[in-house]
Amino acid sequence: MMLRSALDEGVVGSGPAHVEVVDLTVRYGEVTALRPVSVTIEPGTALAVLGPNGAGKTSFANALSGVIRSEATAINIDGVDFRSYPSYARARLGVGHLPDARAIFPSLSVEENLKMGFHTDRSTSKANIAAAYELFPNLDRRKRVAAGKLSGGEQQMLALARLLVRPPKLLIADELSHGLAPGVVANLFKLLEGLKGRSTIIIVEQFVTRALALADTVLVLSHGDVMHQGEAASFSADQAAEFYSLQPARQS
Ligand SMILES: Nc1ncnc2c1ncn2[C@@H]1O[C@H](COP(=O)(O)OP(=O)(O)O)[C@@H](O)[C@H]1O
Ligand SMILES: [Mg+2]
Repeated sequence: MMLRSALDEGVVGSGPAHVEVVDLTVRYGEVTALRPVSVTIEPGTALAVLGPNGAGKTSFANALSGVIRSEATAINIDGVDFRSYPSYARARLGVGHLPDARAIFPSLSVEENLKMGFHTDRSTSKANIAAAYELFPNLDRRKRVAAGKLSGGEQQMLALARLLVRPPKLLIADELSHGLAPGVVANLFKLLEGLKGRSTIIIVEQFVTRALALADTVLVLSHGDVMHQGEAASFSADQAAEFYSLQPARQS
């Protein structure tokens, strides 16, 4: 079987992923949420995916982690064809998708969760766990508490802290800052900055300026269409805002 051979042969190496997506399309019944998108992400770089509500950002993220069905000419990760792999296999091969309720183990303590690392690898780094506690002191205070007993915000911090211990090859971060206190958002971006180079990152964010500061490349979507694609350095939050104003008026 394809998956077994990819795992056995170690075709998908360790370290940040090279990602090649060709003509990725997402449909929900009659609704086309994402028209053919092609993007290449170099290992250890970050792609910011921007656009108004309903642009297709989450559809793009979910299609790559395999939690929804999609069509594509290619979804290659380190040259391996991922299209037929279900989401759990993609996760095993190093695709970390957050927020994801499965990202933590509720019955294990905070510290045990950190020691589990991101994959099933048992080797842990004390330094990385210490770094995680430094970034999220709440977790340090509650290290013996079962993860399932933490507040929603703390569970999210724990899922993030685990990234530091065992960085995924490809981190797909969809609106990670959503619902976090401003001080925690600042730490979140510090964490992502620290992960760059160790993980390839796809970041979907409402904080456009922060996302652009982190990103190397940018993809702007609106109504499922690619509005802009290129280097993040030559793209401004003001330009992004112009695309956001294309959003149709919504009730409320
Ligand atoms: N499960 C679904 N079933 C039907 N339509 C969906 C579903 N999920 C998203 N959509 C539609 O697809 C479009 C893109 O949604 P989404 O990818 O969530 O955009 P974004 O994350 O940019 O807000 C929207 O029009 C949305 O209503
Ligand atoms: Mg979304």
